Amino acid sequence: MIILILIVVILLILFFLLSMVWPPDSPWSPWWRTSPKIARVQCKLAKVKKGDVIYDLGSGEGTALMIAAREFGASGVGIEIDPLRVFTSRLAILFGGLNDKIKIERKNFFAVDVTGATVIFMYLIPKTMARLRSKLLNELKPGTRVVTFVYKIDLPMIAKDEINEVYVYEIPKKK
Ligand SMILES: C[S@@+](CC[C@H](N)C(=O)[O-])C[C@H]1O[C@@H](n2cnc3c(N)ncnc32)[C@H](O)[C@@H]1O
Repeated sequence: MIILILIVVILLILFFLLSMVWPPDSPWSPWWRTSPKIARVQCKLAKVKKGDVIYDLGSGEGTALMIAAREFGASGVGIEIDPLRVFTSRLAILFGGLNDKIKIERKNFFAVDVTGATVIFMYLIPKTMARLRSKLLNELKPGTRVVTFVYKIDLPMIAKDEINEVYVYEIPKKK
């Protein structure tokens, strides 16, 4: 019995260590997350305000959406593929009293229509953002702001905070 417990503990520790180097797009990457401080930087830099509808592609624990709703008056839609994070973020939103402002959908963001967004949040690796680029250009209205953290996307940049690695882009007019 002791050996079994030991094996389980060792496996859990290995899983914990591995999750720290897992690619940030993977549902198994709990260490890649946006802090409340970064969420505030993102909202300020993107001039998030009441009336904005933020789509967070890969919303994780919902931290950025909760800050945007509570402190900046925005509403939000989080798209998250990992059922555990969908569950914990929904709980946090419920206990935070933000249920009327934030909705979390358990979906693959490639399959979600994002036309309703006025702001997009993404903390994803460049390869995934490059795959999302044409979808964003096709579906988003010109003037929609796209906010990325750490990694950049090939769109016209309108603001940046290099120290905090936050970048804001704007969807250009259609040609
Ligand atoms: C680096 S984490 C960022 C989480 C959160 N946005 C934050 O900044 O704290 C990336 C998130 O994207 C989610 N994700 C990855 N691929 C996805 C997909 N195709 N559709 C929806 N969510 C996805 C992962 O499960 C993970 O929660």
